[in-house]
Amino acid sequence: MIRKAVIPAAGLGTRFLPATKSMPKEMLPIIDKPIIQFVVEEAIASGIEDIIIITGRGKRAIEDYFDTSPELETHLLQNGKYELLREVKDISSLADIHYIRQKEPKGLGDAVLKAEKHVGDEPFAVLLGDDIIKADIPCIKQLMNLFEKYSKPMIAVEKVPKEKVSSYGIIKGREIEKSVYFVDDIIEKPPLEEAPSNIGTVGRYVFTPEIFDCITETPPGKGNEIQLTDAIRILIEEEDVYGYAFEGKRYDAGDKIGYVKAIVDFALERDDLKEEVARYIKR
Ligand code: UTP
Repeated sequence: MIRKAVIPAAGLGTRFLPATKSMPKEMLPIIDKPIIQFVVEEAIASGIEDIIIITGRGKRAIEDYFDTSPELETHLLQNGKYELLREVKDISSLADIHYIRQKEPKGLGDAVLKAEKHVGDEPFAVLLGDDIIKADIPCIKQLMNLFEKYSKPMIAVEKVPKEKVSSYGIIKGREIEKSVYFVDDIIEKPPLEEAPSNIGTVGRYVFTPEIFDCITETPPGKGNEIQLTDAIRILIEEEDVYGYAFEGKRYDAGDKIGYVKAIVDFALERDDLKEEVARYIKR
C-alpha cells in the first residue's frame, strides 16, 4: 500500500530563464493552474494522502500557494466572488503537504534522498512536476496498481523520438507482458549511438526504500549532479526493476514546446475557452 508521494521541486529551472530567476518553474501556470497543482492532484486522485515537496531557495511561492490566504479569502467573500473563493479554499485543503529543503540543487537523486526520514520504511511514489500526464487512470495510480502485483520498483516509460533520446533516461528492457518491461539497464541521457533503445523514463516512479541506500552510493554523474537514473542502475544490481508504458498523454512541461502544447490542449478542453481559442488558431 502506497501512502506517500515525494515531489521534487528544488531544481533551478534553467530552461525557463529568465522567468525562473525569481519564481519556481513548478508555479508556471497552464492557463490558471500552476504545473505543480496538476501533480499534487494526480497524487491525491491516486489515493495518496501524505505529500512531501522538496523545495529550495526561491521556492516560497509553492508553500504560500498551498497555504491558506486569509486576506484574499476575505476580499473574495466581501465582493461576493463565491466560486473563486471556493476554488482558493479548496487548494489549501487539498492534502497534507510537508516541505523539506534541499539546500543545494545537487541533482534529482539528492532531492529524493532528502525525503528518506519522512518516508521511512515503506514503498513510496515520486512525481516530477516536469511531466503533466492526462489519463483516465492517473499515471502514478497505474504504477501503484502494478506494484501491487510485482512488489518491485516501477518506472513510467514511453517511446521517445530519436532526436530526443539524448534528453532522457533510457532503458534497456525486455517486454514481459503487455507494456511491462523488465529493466536490464538504464542510462542517463545517452548519445543516440550509445542508447540501448528509444524507451525513455518519464517523471513517475514507485520505489521501495532500498533506493535511498543506492542514492547514497551514487557519485555525481551527468552535469555533476547526483542522478536518480544512476541510483536506479545500482538498484538493478540488487533488485528487479520494471518499466511500464503507461496509458495517457504526457506533456513535457519542463520544456518550452511541451509547455506551449499543454496550454493549447488544455485550453481546447475547457468549456469557457475552447470555442474562441479554436477559432483563433484556425484563423
Ligand atoms: P530537471 O533537471 O528537469 O529540472 O529536474 P531543473 O534542473 O529545475 O530544470 P532545468 O533542466 O534546469 O531547466 C527534474 C525535476 O527534479 C527536480 C526539479 O525541480 C524537477 O522537478 N530537481 C532537480 C530537484 O528537486 N533538485 C535538483 O537538484 C535537481
